[in-house]
Amino acid sequence: MAASPDTSVEPTLRRDRQLAMFERASAIMPGGANSNFRAWGDDTVYVDRGKGGLVWDLDGNEYVDLRMGYGPVLLGHGDDRVDDYVNERMRRGVSFSLTSEDEVRAIELICEVSGWVEQARLTVSGTEATMHAMRVARGYTGREKIVKFEGQYHGVHDYALISVAPDDISELGDAENPVHLAWGRGIPQAVAQTIIPARYNNIAFLRRLFEREGGDIAAVIVEPVLGNAQGILPQPGFHAAMRALTEEFGILLIFDEVKTGFRFARGGAAEYFGIRPDLATFAKAMGNGYPVAAFGGRREVMSVLPDAVSHGGTYAGNRVAAAAAVKTLEIIRDTDALATIHATGDRLKAGIRSILEAKGLAFSFTGHASMFGIVFSETVPTEYRDWANTDHELYDAIAVAMHARGAMPEPDSREPWFVCEAHAQGDLVDRSLGAFAGALDDALEARARRSSTVLKGAMAHQAAG
Ligand SMILES: Cc1ncc(COP(=O)(O)O)c(C=O)c1O
Repeated sequence: MAASPDTSVEPTLRRDRQLAMFERASAIMPGGANSNFRAWGDDTVYVDRGKGGLVWDLDGNEYVDLRMGYGPVLLGHGDDRVDDYVNERMRRGVSFSLTSEDEVRAIELICEVSGWVEQARLTVSGTEATMHAMRVARGYTGREKIVKFEGQYHGVHDYALISVAPDDISELGDAENPVHLAWGRGIPQAVAQTIIPARYNNIAFLRRLFEREGGDIAAVIVEPVLGNAQGILPQPGFHAAMRALTEEFGILLIFDEVKTGFRFARGGAAEYFGIRPDLATFAKAMGNGYPVAAFGGRREVMSVLPDAVSHGGTYAGNRVAAAAAVKTLEIIRDTDALATIHATGDRLKAGIRSILEAKGLAFSFTGHASMFGIVFSETVPTEYRDWANTDHELYDAIAVAMHARGAMPEPDSREPWFVCEAHAQGDLVDRSLGAFAGALDDALEARARRSSTVLKGAMAHQAAG
């Protein structure tokens, strides 16, 4: 890292072509994008290409990509090792709705690299993986309810969209008795009622809940860190206590490793935190951006398939997905890619720390070196409700200003920075830090200007009065 980050890059952002594309796309796609999470109104980004740790939009703006597609691109965009292998395999045909050796190999690797999974099935998205894991848990236990934690995101099926990420924390209801908050219309109340929201890092809450209705609860599904809320970390012993408690009540533990899997460690968050869940879901990092996912776990639990529980999917295990998983998991197993990613994340964090300490701002990091959040507050958040008490407006202003300075984190404080192997190359870390330092200055100046305007307004008002 350079001693002091270079903030001399003039902020520029060409938008003409993207604005034209926004108009064209909005006519035929709601919000001009294929996901609500990408529909940023006039600021919607239309991508041209990516390579390694860089991405270019339609106007030719170049950014260090710190979103990495919300996490899947672990090695870097257009990784030749993965792409060449996928290209070679796909020439043999992609979809047969029959089973290829690539699929068997992918699952052998999931079992080997995770270190604990005994059986798994491939799906195409993380959403499908969590949906099927929940169904398997229900099928295995014969119970209907699933506990999930406030602020955690498990995809876009009806059972996952409960108490996810409201801007207004009061919508979650009373802290001791949270409501089943559906994200948007269209989710049947009867479905929402089968999902019990709980509070992360609160083992006493969980015990009370299990004592009250444990006999109806099939599973607890948990993102091992609140990956969709800045990567808020478990308190020491939280996962071990939750594991013991679920065993005590005969409730299954599902680790949703869609973000953490094959990233925190080869064996994901299960290895990192030393926990053996009953089931886990994987996606993102296991295919370096190709659409592949999986659910799996203990043989005994998975044995409800194929006879007792439904699972299928025309594209489940398609050749492109399976080949991408094979090559990506081999790279994770055989190379020091993860060590590189973790060291690069540590370099980024060290640089950000010195920039923020120089300003005297109260902050902390959440998450893991490979996927970290920056939180502006005096105290470290331990659950989603704490996010409301952080200065997330400051974070969002910095993130937005970074785009014009050539680095692109998600412009929402709840989404962590994602580090890929290719970020170690060239000057990408220094460029990111330069963009961060410059954007921080921009955000603080804008805030100072706003408060002096407010102050002047108040004084004028007082004088007039
Ligand atoms: C923890 C977690 N689970 C599930 C999902 C859903 O995965 P997908 O977007 O592939 O459906 C996500 C997506 O961000 C996730 O972060």
